[in-house]
Amino acid sequence: MKHITKAYGPLVANDDISLTLNKGEILAVVGENGAGKSTLMKILYGLESADSGEILINGEVRRIRSPYDAIACGIGMVQQHFMLFPPFTAAENIVYGHEPKSRTVFFNRREAVKSVKALCTQYGMYIDPDVKVADCPVGLQQRIEILKVLYQGADIIIFDEPSAVLTPQEVTELLKTIKDLKRAGKSIILITHKLSEVMAVADRVMVMRLGNLIKVMQREETSIEEMSFLMVGHTLKTREIQKIQQGRQILSVEHLTLAGTAGKPVIDDVNINVRGGEIVGIAGVSGNGQSELIQCLTGIRKFQSGRIIINGTDVSNCPVQENRDSGCACIPEDRYFWGNAAEATLVENSIMSHYKKTHLMKHGIFNKKNTCTFANDIMAEFDVRYTSDRQAIQELSGGNVQKLIVAREIMQHSPFLIAAEPTRGIDIGAIDFIHGKLLEKREQGDAILLISSELTEIFALSDRIYVMYEGRIAGEFTREEATIDKVGLLMMGGALDG
Ligand SMILES: Nc1ncnc2c1ncn2[C@@H]1O[C@H](COP(=O)(O)OP(=O)(O)OP(=O)(O)O)[C@@H](O)[C@H]1O
Ligand SMILES: [Mg+2]
Repeated sequence: MKHITKAYGPLVANDDISLTLNKGEILAVVGENGAGKSTLMKILYGLESADSGEILINGEVRRIRSPYDAIACGIGMVQQHFMLFPPFTAAENIVYGHEPKSRTVFFNRREAVKSVKALCTQYGMYIDPDVKVADCPVGLQQRIEILKVLYQGADIIIFDEPSAVLTPQEVTELLKTIKDLKRAGKSIILITHKLSEVMAVADRVMVMRLGNLIKVMQREETSIEEMSFLMVGHTLKTREIQKIQQGRQILSVEHLTLAGTAGKPVIDDVNINVRGGEIVGIAGVSGNGQSELIQCLTGIRKFQSGRIIINGTDVSNCPVQENRDSGCACIPEDRYFWGNAAEATLVENSIMSHYKKTHLMKHGIFNKKNTCTFANDIMAEFDVRYTSDRQAIQELSGGNVQKLIVAREIMQHSPFLIAAEPTRGIDIGAIDFIHGKLLEKREQGDAILLISSELTEIFALSDRIYVMYEGRIAGEFTREEATIDKVGLLMMGGALDG
């Protein structure tokens, strides 16, 4: 890519960027939220058009105006939000758009399954071609997405934050797959916020900041410290957590049970409590009931037995609004599904759950000036990068959407906060900032339930840790007792001696 420039109004998302990718190479792209990484890759994949600059493939200038053009050039992209059809099988999804036909018109399912099996063998990535995508865990859906890109004949494969939604085990699998693809001669671009992944697989790394290319380095010649310094502009210190006086009990979950489909409960007699001034972490491989627990706690999901008490009020099976009124705020785990209204503006998204405050709304009419001020203030405080408060939230970079949701929920100043994957897709500088904000809230005497698939995050913040496994609380540790080994063992279904 040569001299690529792309502006959105006054904002220059890519400023004269040139990059090369060699055959059989893994190039990592790192940078703060909003640095322009996704934009650059969308230009390469034909999802966005550059204002100027050119793209050469194997030395030839190619015009890439759509993903069709990109695929024709041998470029594939594994999207962060998978573009699969859930009711269809893996094989159907993989061949979609390039289906094998019988007598030129009918879809030849047998041929499709056969070629998918051949593809699996060729790349050593196994899936059941007949499994329905809707029934696949995220890691498997991603594998199907990768196979689809390979089926389309890609030689250049772009991954935009592929590990953000995966469990640690799935991440290990993915990194292995990426290395295998390299060995098979594919050229790979990997956008990630996890610098350890860069160190594990990349040949070269490119650092971006504010739309500019800062530096391209050989992996052996750099370090996590140097990369973070180049990204954020300063070094990050590890935090010391102060011991503080704990207050009254704010969350209490008693014998919570939620029935599952196969006769086995999804949540099985769970007891949890969180006091004011306390951050309690729930560690667990995702899919062990954490999502359902959040849904029960926030009133989205009705459960069969047990009680949930928030700030002194029994909110068991209450409507969401009552639940919020009792003092519960929630940073949801999936920002796109639960956290925002994609087409609504930044102001509208900021005031959700705040709008009833009298200075924002009176007699059912919004105070336009005050809502704008409110939105701009919280976005400024949490360093959300945007051009206009009337932009649709879907125009923000992924990490900036997350920062806005975190800002909105923390600024609720509720006695109880559920923070589910609060730093997913966020750059290392902003992670540090958000951790600081959560600790500040704890110091103000509020109760926080932290659900995270990042063990480092759980360990960095929690006063106490529960481990969830197959819908049950498999163990509970204080900050002093907890070790990665003990928690990890329970997460995998093991048992502690004694
Ligand atoms: N369609 C759009 N309209 C207006 N601005 C946009 C649009 N798409 C992206 N931007 C802006 O361009 C900048 C770069 O965004 P981009 O998505 O490339 O960042 P990123 O480096 O991928 O960040 P993240 O790590 O958060 O995913 C951001 O400031 C973003 O708000
Ligand atoms: Mg991005």
